This record gives sequence, structure tokens and C-alpha cells, in this order.
Amino acid sequence: MTLDPYGDEELVELYDVDNPAGADHDYFRRVADAIGATKVVDLGCGTGLLTRALVAPGRVVIGIDPSPTMLNFARRQPGAEAVTWIDGDASVIASTGDVDLVVSSGNTMMHVSDDDLPSALKSCADALRTGGVITFESRNPVMRAWESWTREATYGERDTSAGHLREWVEVTEVDGGRVVFDAHNVFDDGRDAVYTTTLYFRTVEEITAALEDAGFGAITIQGGWHDEPATTDSRLLIFHATKH
Ligand SMILES: C[S@@+](CC[C@H](N)C(=O)[O-])C[C@H]1O[C@@H](n2cnc3c(N)ncnc32)[C@H](O)[C@@H]1O
Repeated sequence: MTLDPYGDEELVELYDVDNPAGADHDYFRRVADAIGATKVVDLGCGTGLLTRALVAPGRVVIGIDPSPTMLNFARRQPGAEAVTWIDGDASVIASTGDVDLVVSSGNTMMHVSDDDLPSALKSCADALRTGGVITFESRNPVMRAWESWTREATYGERDTSAGHLREWVEVTEVDGGRVVFDAHNVFDDGRDAVYTTTLYFRTVEEITAALEDAGFGAITIQGGWHDEPATTDSRLLIFHATKH
């Protein structure tokens, strides 16, 4: 059994401090408003900061995440009662065919393994109505971000609600687009909480093909949160696709 990289009760308290609402949240809210979404699923919702921001009058919002620590934190936040929270991955999304929008933020799709990606996208498609939209971002493998994930380049110290923290990340394995890294978190008492994450860096072609195989079309790709065109040196690839 692998340790949940989001499973630390102390570190989950810091997640929203480290990942505040930004241009990404504005983008996802814009998409929801533009299509007049009345039912939205946030896959891999984590602490639910975006999920709660998607709540609007007459709109059903569902947040899904496989990390009990993240989801229980989300359930405790102000406004959480307006969201339906479900434990699990894409396999728990109900095939209702009436969802207007599936969002997945914070590079969550990169956590889905190559083996699981087809069924995860198919579950999203089965939940969506015809014409419904899926949108998510994924890091551009061309930029090889993992090459800077070294102890030297990422080391930092700070005072947090969990005490003084020394932290860094370190890549331990690269196999094609599959990148494994350890996040080290050394607390005051010397304890080093090490969490291992595997991310799948996928090309435009790989993600486009996976979306098409799952029943999506009209696929567009942006290179930033403000309609920037995707280029080879875009840091992020933001996919927007419509269910046939
Ligand atoms: C970087 S966090 C992003 C959380 C949130 N979406 C955000 O924007 O802050 C990645 C989340 O993906 C979840 N996750 C990991 N594997 C997943 C999978 N196979 N399916 C769905 N979510 C997954 C983790 O539990 C974690 O909460």
C-alpha cells in the first residue's frame, strides 16, 4: 500500500496557504458561467477551495477526491455544506449523463496513471450530457519541469501553523513521462515526513487521443489561464473538450 501524499493532517492545513485561489480559479469559474452550468463535478477537488468557489445559485456542485485527509479538511471549511463531497477517484462519478461541466484543477489529471486514464475520462464522459464540457490542466512535458526538482533548487525554511518547517522535493525516478518525487518536510523535532508522488507528464498528442477515445471532441488547448495560445514552451497545457 502506498502512502497518500496528501495524507498528513498537519500539512493539509498548509495546502491552501501554498495554493491560494488565483487565475486558475477565475478560469474554471468563467467556463462554468459561460456554459451556464447547473451541475458541476470537481474531480480531485483536494481541500475544496475551488469547489466551494464554484457554488452558485441553482448550481449543484460535487467534489470528489480519493484522499480522506484532503476531503475531510474540505468538509470542515466554511460553505462546505453547499457542496456534495464524495470519497474516491473518477470511478465513483455517477453515470447520470446530466452534468454540464467536469473540472480538474491543480494538475490532478497528472496523478491519474496511464492505465487508469482511459477509464477515468470515460467516467467523466458518462457523467456529462451531450455538449457538456471537461476542462483541466497538465504540465507541458517539453518544459521538463522535473529537472529543477532538486534539493538544492527547492530547499526552503518557514514558520507555519505546524511549527518551523524545512522542506524540499527531490526526483527519485524518471521513466518517459512518469516522474516520481519525494517531498521532504522536516519538523522542529527532527521528524522528516516524506511523501512520494507520481506524476504523468503527457504530450498534447497523448491527451488529445485519450480525450477522443473517451468520446470528446472540439478539443482546444490554451497555454495559460487568459486564453494564451499553447506553444512548445508553454508551462501548462489547459484542455477544454466537449462530449459528443
Ligand atoms: C495537487 S492536488 C489538487 C487539489 C485541487 N484540485 C486544487 O486545485 O488545489 C491533487 C489532488 O488529486 C487527488 N488525486 C490523486 N490521485 C487521484 C486520482 N487518481 N483521481 C482523482 N484525484 C486524485 C489528490 O488526493 C489531491 O487532492
